[in-house]
Amino acid sequence: MKFFIDTANIYEIKEAQNFGILDGVTTNPSLMAKEKIKGEKNIIEHYKKICSVVDGDVSAEVISTDLDGIISEGEKLSQLDQKIVVKVPMIKNGIKAIKHFSSKNIKTNCTLIFSAGQALIAAKAGATYVSPFIGRLDDISTDGLNIISDIRKIFDNYNINTQILAASIRSPLHIISCAKIGSDVITSPLNSILKLFEHPLTDIGLKKFLDDHYSVNKK
Ligand code: E4P
Repeated sequence: MKFFIDTANIYEIKEAQNFGILDGVTTNPSLMAKEKIKGEKNIIEHYKKICSVVDGDVSAEVISTDLDGIISEGEKLSQLDQKIVVKVPMIKNGIKAIKHFSSKNIKTNCTLIFSAGQALIAAKAGATYVSPFIGRLDDISTDGLNIISDIRKIFDNYNINTQILAASIRSPLHIISCAKIGSDVITSPLNSILKLFEHPLTDIGLKKFLDDHYSVNKK
């Protein structure tokens, strides 16, 4: 399973990249706003910066919702760097645009997926990735992981090669559950990824090993 980090924060991206376990980055307009990146020029420069830091795909989301706008914005973004994946919302014009991008070999990530039916439509249009938002489904008392299982089954039934990119991750348990189900990718805040590193028995075990070593060896 590929690990993407869901942030526009360069320091967090660098930290994850330095562990050698990072496969890509996803951003969205809210994450860009959180980093106070504003104005077209600055936004473009920030995407270029992210691409220079990470080895792997970088999702950059369009703002337009009309077809011509999505296409021209997406084409512009895709020309910034080979790593750029054009992130397009799951709306009717978005699906038409994904079909267009796919005919031009431009990678796409269909975002704001909340049902298996939406994922199937995006895959039919040729999306490289579909992003089901599991945390936001959990937030409204709907089991977000069910949708990952449903999409996995549907894609396997028909050998669909669109990748399932589980998004809106809220905990390390979400990541483990997605791996068990067979999600192709997860995108997560750094915090949940770092929690996967931890176990109290690891800390206790290491302390004991080192204490035992130094009880007979000089420091
Ligand atoms: C996906 O690509 C989105 O950027 C993201 O995962 C949304 O997560 P949130 O529900 O925590 O905002």
